[in-house]
Amino acid sequence: MELIQTIRELRAKLDALRGEGKTIGLVPTMGALHAGHASLVKRAVAENDVVVVSDFVNPTQFNDKDDLAKYPRTLDADCRLLESCGAAFVFAPSVEEIYPEPDTRTFSYAPLDTVMEGKYRPGHFNGVCQIVSKLFLIVEPTRAYFGEKDFQQLAIIREMVRRYPFDLQIVGCPIVREADGLALSSRNARLSGEQRKQALQISKALFASVDYAKSHTLAETKAFVEKTIADAEGLRLEYFEIVDGNTLQTVGEWEESKYIVGCITVFCGEVRLIDNIKYKE
Ligand code: PAJ
Repeated sequence: MELIQTIRELRAKLDALRGEGKTIGLVPTMGALHAGHASLVKRAVAENDVVVVSDFVNPTQFNDKDDLAKYPRTLDADCRLLESCGAAFVFAPSVEEIYPEPDTRTFSYAPLDTVMEGKYRPGHFNGVCQIVSKLFLIVEPTRAYFGEKDFQQLAIIREMVRRYPFDLQIVGCPIVREADGLALSSRNARLSGEQRKQALQISKALFASVDYAKSHTLAETKAFVEKTIADAEGLRLEYFEIVDGNTLQTVGEWEESKYIVGCITVFCGEVRLIDNIKYKE
């Protein structure tokens, strides 16, 4: 595995491989890697000749400077994990390499990017599209891998690929959870022991709501999750929305759509955690 820091060097290596007819898998990440990221990388390794993992904390997608400053950075450990997963290249550029001048491009995929995370983190998805589009242009992957953990991000990237258009396949991968249910996240490292226990109530509420939904209306199920989180110590709900899995717009009745997902964001202390669950697929 090679660690590469410049666009020029990465392009040269990938052009040569592409010339040999090799397929290229790309896994974009912000580092602080865990088993959730590893699942994407392993799938990419299984489905492509060569896998590039980008490890870059993208400043343009952070609307909160404090969150950016506190974002964990663990490149050495990341490289060890990626090597064990079979990645060929880790692309870890500097901010100046990616943004030699400010990126003034704007990406707007309303109403996909105006709800939920888009509403609470203005500019976030614009930054995500800036970096992901640059990575697609630099790497020219055959396939790119994204987790369903960031359900809205995946939907927006699919839309960006469709509209740009980029000639590549987007592969969505299931959420990897701890044995007790907590969705793996780089931000979990910032939870204290006590907060880690409190955070467990998020996935518990979502799992319980799947059962609850079998005998209750959509509105009742939404209220059930909201109340469970409100009653849980140490948690503060930002939003819980039950949406159509394709359009991300709220649905009012279970019968309204064939694909229904509940998306939640909760603060555990200062740490902002997101999760989601499928009710219908
Ligand atoms: P990051 O949060 O590092 O996540 C990188 C990829 O790993 C994303 O596609 C995310 O959905 C996936 N992922 C994270 N936790 C997961 C879990 N528990 N199970 C399955 N997949 C998981 O998402 C980003 O970075 C950035 O926005 C990025 C796309 C890299 C652009 O900067």
